[in-house]
Amino acid sequence: MQINLAKRLGKLPPYLFAELDRLKKEVQAKGVDVISLGIGDPDLPTPDYIVAALKQAAEKPVNHRYPDYEGLESFRAAAANWYQRRFGVSFDPKTEVCALIGSKEGIANFSTAVIDPGDIVLIPDPGYPVYFSGCTFSGGEAYFLPLRKQNGFLPDLGSIPLEVARRAKLLWVNYPNNPTGAVADLSFFKTAVEFCLRNDIILAHDLAYSEIAYDGYRAPSVFEVDRARECAVEFHSLSKTFSMTGWRVGFVVGNPTLVAGLGKVKTNTDSGVFQGIQEAAIAALEGGDDTLRQYCATYKQRRDVMVTALRDLGLACDAPKATFYIWAEVPKGYTSASFSERVLKEAGVVITPGSGFGNGGEGYVRLSITIGTERLKEAAARIKALKL
Ligand code: MLT
Repeated sequence: MQINLAKRLGKLPPYLFAELDRLKKEVQAKGVDVISLGIGDPDLPTPDYIVAALKQAAEKPVNHRYPDYEGLESFRAAAANWYQRRFGVSFDPKTEVCALIGSKEGIANFSTAVIDPGDIVLIPDPGYPVYFSGCTFSGGEAYFLPLRKQNGFLPDLGSIPLEVARRAKLLWVNYPNNPTGAVADLSFFKTAVEFCLRNDIILAHDLAYSEIAYDGYRAPSVFEVDRARECAVEFHSLSKTFSMTGWRVGFVVGNPTLVAGLGKVKTNTDSGVFQGIQEAAIAALEGGDDTLRQYCATYKQRRDVMVTALRDLGLACDAPKATFYIWAEVPKGYTSASFSERVLKEAGVVITPGSGFGNGGEGYVRLSITIGTERLKEAAARIKALKL
């Protein structure tokens, strides 16, 4: 029998980080000690108090049953309280917060809730690949917004043609930004909210990296802007903030109609987050700011080591104010792909080609500093030995 997969799968490349993983394993299988600066997966462990909370929660039989679909009320209240403390904005935990199996799940499913075939989705380029996956699975039409160095890697919303804006249903933004490490201030979010309200466009903000910040930088929430609640949702993840990538837990806050729409997709496709993990996530959201400060100090030290090393190698890059990504220009004579390939094959170092995040990422590579300083230094030394 001939098996034909759905045509929509043909519209997507293999998932960027699954592909990098495959290439890494291929090189490892040849006996190479591979250093991965690929996926943004913190090496710093989930803090002890969170692990302890999971151990306790795992013992409770009530947590072995199906979870509440939209998340435990106590989890949603903890998320709302965290927002109040962190950004000074309040949400009704019952209608304006929903638990997610990691923000990736929510981001992918959000398109199913709001996009009909033919709707335009405004997507940053380069950008986190899942914005495009969700759009494609829902039959949407992507309109890419270039993020250029000269604009501080912010999209120029004013350059979107009127007929595109009229047909657009959803705008994705993400600051602190993956992959560029760029940040946006409140005036950018104000412009984005005004643009969306003027054009009847839903604004989705991916705030996964808000807490990984340096040099006194404090990332804002889109909800610090007046009237954002009329058009926006914001996705937050515990993955990066609390080193919990493997736990799969996050949440969405914002406009109650949009939150309910995503909730409807989810009740029909998944059965929520394991309640033991939600209880541990409550412990995370309610405490531990000291550990987080310490983790950011560690990332900052690594950032400084890596930025210095890259500049010594002649690779231009900014020191990011937030995120654990360094967005560096490739040397002359290389594309993103050819440079990443050479670095992997000849130096045994995984870096992510900028073009994997969209055509707008061509000419760049992304390095994730989610490994220890000594290994970072070794990675830099191996790249240096290539004599670029
Ligand atoms: C990244 O490294 O950009 C992502 O966080 C990985 C992912 O979510 O798949």
